Amino acid sequence: MAADISIPLILGTDSASDEFVKIDLARTGNLLLAGATKQGKSHCIHNLIRQIETLAMSPEMILFDPKKCEFGRYKDKFRVIETLSDAKTVLFSELFNEEIFKRTLNTYQDRYSIVIVIDELLDLIFMHKSRSKQYFSDRLRYEAIIKILTLGPEYNIFTIISTQTADKDILTKEILDSFKTRLAFRTINGQDSRRIIKKSGAENLLGKGDAILYQEGKCRKIQCP
Ligand SMILES: Nc1ncnc2c1ncn2[C@@H]1O[C@H](COP(=O)(O)OP(=O)(O)OP(=O)(O)O)[C@@H](O)[C@H]1O
Ligand SMILES: [Mg+2]
Repeated sequence: MAADISIPLILGTDSASDEFVKIDLARTGNLLLAGATKQGKSHCIHNLIRQIETLAMSPEMILFDPKKCEFGRYKDKFRVIETLSDAKTVLFSELFNEEIFKRTLNTYQDRYSIVIVIDELLDLIFMHKSRSKQYFSDRLRYEAIIKILTLGPEYNIFTIISTQTADKDILTKEILDSFKTRLAFRTINGQDSRRIIKKSGAENLLGKGDAILYQEGKCRKIQCP
């Protein structure tokens, strides 16, 4: 069983009280960032990565960048996975099952943790950016992600995922259920908002990091830096 660790992060400021909104990723578990294109998801992720790298007990980071445009700047410091074939190797050979999680933990020190960042889910699951409602082009890649999301936190492996689609074929119930903490950026409509944070409202956000944090069934409006 994983040792007690903490990964404190500031998500932004509370729009009503102006106070910092803090989470401990090790307690809240996986973090979902969802919303339409150009509303601030990647911007927020860069901010979180900068915070994580300055932590005293900095977790190992694995950054999946299937768009090949977000994480190039971190290549000197962290593992950056850009191609789908590399993603497959890492997902399966290193992260896929509980035995591997246990081995990873035993190999390292007690307070070891991993933060996995996927920006963006759509590009990692789909081989082509096809929104035609077919099956996942690589069902196995999807299943590997589900396993990491559901089993990972128990072994101090936490995942931050961004997605610009709330389509139920990509942001499936299985995926949604593995995120107790969700950040909705501006969505294209109320239906997407309801899917992400279980109520409408995200469609009226202003963009540029304006977001609604959903946590333990409650929503609060925040501004991400
Ligand atoms: N918190 C913020 N404060 C000020 N400007 C912001 C903020 N977040 C995003 N922006 C602006 O909006 C632009 C788009 O943001 P970002 O790249 O994070 O969008 P995204 O949601 O990741 O979009 P995509 O889904 O297309 O990847 C940024 O280049 C930046 O100019
Ligand atoms: Mg982005």
